[in-house]
This record gives sequence, C-alpha cells and structure tokens, in this order.
Amino acid sequence: MIYVAPSLLAADFANLESSVKRVTDAGANYLHLDVMDGMFVPNISFGAPVISALRPHSKLIFDVHLMINDPIRYINDFVKAGADLITFHLESCSDPLKVIEKIRSREVRCGLAISPATPVERIIPYLKEIDMALIMTVVPGFGGQKLIPETLEKVRTVRRYAESHKLRLDIEVDGGLTAENVHLATEAGANIIVAGSSVFGAKRPRAVIASMRQAAAEHPYRD
Ligand code: DX5
Ligand code: ZN
Repeated sequence: MIYVAPSLLAADFANLESSVKRVTDAGANYLHLDVMDGMFVPNISFGAPVISALRPHSKLIFDVHLMINDPIRYINDFVKAGADLITFHLESCSDPLKVIEKIRSREVRCGLAISPATPVERIIPYLKEIDMALIMTVVPGFGGQKLIPETLEKVRTVRRYAESHKLRLDIEVDGGLTAENVHLATEAGANIIVAGSSVFGAKRPRAVIASMRQAAAEHPYRD
C-alpha cells in the first residue's frame, strides 16, 4: 500500500485547519509536519504548539519530520502534541540510538532521515531499530525544490537491504515529488510519499493524490 503524506509546509498558514481538511477530503493518509529550527536547516517553520492545536481537528497520521539540532530535547513535546511518527536526522545528533530509544519508549513510531549528501551506508546499521527510513530527495530546508534523481538509488539500496533481512520497514521519500515522477520513487521501493507543493498547490488536490496512487500502483518495487 502506498501512503500519500501532504506536507503542511506548503499550506496556507493563515488557514491551517481548513487546509488540513482540504487534503483530508482529497484522500491523504498522513499529514507531514516539517519542523525547522533555523540551525540544522536555514529556515524556521513551526513547532509543537502548532501541531498540538491541529491534533483535535484531524484523524490523519501525524508524521513529524524534525529538522532540528539535538532532537532528543524535544521528543516529549512532540509526543504530547500528538505525533504518531517522529523522524529525526542522522546528521543532527551524536548518538542516534539514544534518540531512537527515547522515541520508542514513548510508544510512537520512529523514523530516521538522511539528507542527500549523506551516504546510504550510514543509515544501514540503524534499519533494524526503526520503523521508517526517510530518504530526502531534496536538500532539507525548503519546499518547492526539484527532486534529485540520484537520491533514488539510496531508496533502492535500503529496500533491497530490508527485503533481504526480512525487515518490515517503511521508506518515505520527501522533496520534489509529483504525480509525474512518483513512479520513480515507488519503483525504487518507497511506500510513503511526501508531497508539499504538488498537493497543496493544486487546484484539485484529489486528482493529484489519485494520480499519484495510480502511478504508484502501476510501478511497484522492482529489484
Ligand atoms: C523540505 C521538507 C519537505 C517539503 C516538501 O525540507 O522536508 O517535506 O515540505 O515540499 P515539496 O513537496 O514542495 O518539495
Ligand atoms: Zn519533510
């Protein structure tokens, strides 16, 4: 099953509740929530209070993508805010296993992300400890960028590893995904698709999500 995760970063920040309703009605499964601290990435977005304010208004799976330094400091805040899945960056901390343990101890799903410059070999040792690998398909920090095709080779490597080690692992791709290129990601082995501008920016988000799903179904993982 392919899951579509619209990224709130591309929503109308003056009307978050109705923006979330719009993508929910359009068939989204997850709501991707990009938290940026102006340090790990150059941009600042929003934090736990915004997520907590949206929680009573949505039944979507809250997929929190932390682009912040030293994320362990804030795990409790995001759990309390209503995250179902918390993803942090391998590059953002000195002891990723500690952060993984912390997230899992709160009974929330745990994801680990790598930026385009990070070699895929660095995430491999953690795959058996996590629920989801997030392979960034753009340099994190901003929405609306173009997908970097070379990053999809990492998706393939991670999916191949997960299959050969019988790991139940979700693989999320994030950045520059559209109905036109999503098949490249699903063929490589991704099953959770983040889409910011392509969904929130669309006149008819339902049609975009439907064509993403169709393209994905027609292009399943092929080794
Ligand atoms: C980038 C964020 C993405 C971004 C995706 O740092 O992690 O989630 O919002 O936006 P699009 O789909 O517009 O590239
Ligand atoms: Zn993201």
